[in-house]
Amino acid sequence: MSQLTFDTPTTKIIKKLIDSNKGRINFSNFMSTCMTNEDFGYYSSKNLSWDKKGDYQTSPEIHPVFGYLWAKQINECWHKMNKPKEIQIIEIGAGSAIFMANICTWLKNQNNELYDASEIILLDISQKRLDEQKKILDIYEIDANYSTLSEFLNKKIKSDAIVISNEFFDCLPFHLIKKRNKNIYEIFVSLSEKNELIFKEEILSDKKIIDFIRSMEITLFEDCIIEIAPKTFETSQQIAEMLNAGYIITIDYGDLTENLMKEWNKEGTFKAISNHMLTDPLDDPGNVDITADVNFSILKKAFEEKQFQVNELTSQWQSLINLGIFDLIKKENEIDFNNSARYFKTNQALAKLLEPEQLGRIKVQVAGKNVPTNNLLYMKG
Ligand SMILES: C[S@@+](CC[C@H](N)C(=O)[O-])C[C@H]1O[C@@H](n2cnc3c(N)ncnc32)[C@H](O)[C@@H]1O
Repeated sequence: MSQLTFDTPTTKIIKKLIDSNKGRINFSNFMSTCMTNEDFGYYSSKNLSWDKKGDYQTSPEIHPVFGYLWAKQINECWHKMNKPKEIQIIEIGAGSAIFMANICTWLKNQNNELYDASEIILLDISQKRLDEQKKILDIYEIDANYSTLSEFLNKKIKSDAIVISNEFFDCLPFHLIKKRNKNIYEIFVSLSEKNELIFKEEILSDKKIIDFIRSMEITLFEDCIIEIAPKTFETSQQIAEMLNAGYIITIDYGDLTENLMKEWNKEGTFKAISNHMLTDPLDDPGNVDITADVNFSILKKAFEEKQFQVNELTSQWQSLINLGIFDLIKKENEIDFNNSARYFKTNQALAKLLEPEQLGRIKVQVAGKNVPTNNLLYMKG
């Protein structure tokens, strides 16, 4: 329940939406307004960051090795594609752009032929985000093209590409569904008598969601909330359609349906985060991040329907070890043995990226079309 005395600009927009939608809006609509509203949405905020100063820290912000290791994987993918003379390297939801900066730094140093063959493309939600990303890549002297994801997808251009994303899919909006007394309810956002935002359950009547639950073979358990994300399926298929041949590398929190939907998982996986703390998603709309674990079964089905081969899920800790994180960190530490601050910082980063309680639990899914997908570096123990 909202405790706010003053409405944020986003709260005002949401209240108007609720008024014009029979007194309630679904959670997916609430979430897109909070996150992607052009003027006041979370992703339009100035100085948004994903490092220690931000609401939470992502892997690319922890240490450059994260970008270098995935560059190594991209390099292998390009070889497996028979070294095309022209290839797009696309990042979706690039945040501060530091991941792409580190990927390109590795490629420039280790495989200039691939770097020269590459068209670097960053796709994000708004021009504001893209402008900030361009500032960073300009500092690294990296030429790239920038577009909003929706504009890029609308062009429907097909190419040979390697698409990579880190913590993008968990930002896409979802509906909240709950089974109670054998009935299925959708959880809406509505207004209390005191004009505060509240949750409100109504019998699920949206045929699109009912069909989606069926087609994804999702089992609902009594008293459990689950997130249902048709948008994730649609977006995955649109991304898949961009490729003639190539790979889609997805790195994100989440799991397969059977591991996400458990009888004991009553509250679902959705959460709101502000300043590294969990908070109420109805408090402070537009100023807090809202996410849920990605259902990788949805991505798998979406990609397979578009003729992709989808590898089994791997965890981040396993993938980074297979890509050689220990060797890279060892080399990094050898640079200056006497600099103990640097030594401890590097080892701290290693722990954060690998520990299964921390970012190590993030999952990696690689899908490929018209390319070999087995025995890739990140999979080899
Ligand atoms: C959680 S941040 C991750 C940033 C970066 N990949 C990282 O790991 O630090 C999510 C990114 O996805 C972008 N994003 C969120 N929703 C989006 C959408 N619907 N379309 C395109 N980009 C979106 C955000 O602007 C942001 O850059």
